[in-house]
Amino acid sequence: MRLIFLGPPGAGKGTQASRLADEFGLCQVSTGDILRQAVADGTPMGKKAREFMDAGQLVPDEVVIGIVRDKLAGPECAGGYILDGFPRTTGQARALDDILSDFSAPIERVAAFMVAEEAVVERLSGRRTCRACQAMYHAVFAPTRVGGVCDKCGGELFQRDDDREQVIRERLKVYADNTEPLLAYYRERGLLTEVVAGGSVDSVYAAVRAAVGV
Ligand code: AP5
Repeated sequence: MRLIFLGPPGAGKGTQASRLADEFGLCQVSTGDILRQAVADGTPMGKKAREFMDAGQLVPDEVVIGIVRDKLAGPECAGGYILDGFPRTTGQARALDDILSDFSAPIERVAAFMVAEEAVVERLSGRRTCRACQAMYHAVFAPTRVGGVCDKCGGELFQRDDDREQVIRERLKVYADNTEPLLAYYRERGLLTEVVAGGSVDSVYAAVRAAVGV
């Protein structure tokens, strides 16, 4: 399977990508996770990306295109992958087409997560992530057994800097201006399937599986 998960911040792309990747042995390529790791490691790329991410803006195309090109060329993605959070601009989508034509392995399906703005704000403002293993929780919808402690590894939970309400609103605006046009881009190519993403995690997972045909 070669898939793209497209949708606004907080639509549940990462939650569903992680579950589908685990079940079907796919590689999850999250540009957001890769960039956050680069920021945490203090690499030159991380230093460049940080100011954009903290402001809710997109990191320049050439940076993320390079990340995705390297990941897709690696052995871990040879058995199939989910692009989670990429592409986000028309320039990135065109670059992806070029990369995949080099591999003769086009995208098979684009799942477009459709969810109301208020639900997204509620989800993101309650999101908590484990500092050690990156497992994701929600203060209300998916709490840990012990407050502030990861169920999987005992690590400390934290709230992302860009999950403050003002930055969330900016990310939603950036999505509408830059990424929403990709719905038409992929619909015209016959690749887009909409996923109703406002329900429970289990119901959205069922809808994702139906959308990608597994
Ligand atoms: P990124 O990390 O990709 O953020 P995003 O797209 O804004 O997506 P999120 O991770 O916020 O949300 P999600 O849809 O994955 O939802 P999740 O499953 O986590 O990007 C961050 C930044 O990096 C960008 O702003 C940009 O600066 C930069 N960047 C990344 N990619 C880039 C690119 N291609 N080009 C340029 N810049 C790039 O769920 C959210 C919460 O909701 C969780 O707490 C979860 O537990 C909960 N939840 C999930 N599903 C449900 C449900 N069904 N019901 C209730 N709660 C739910």
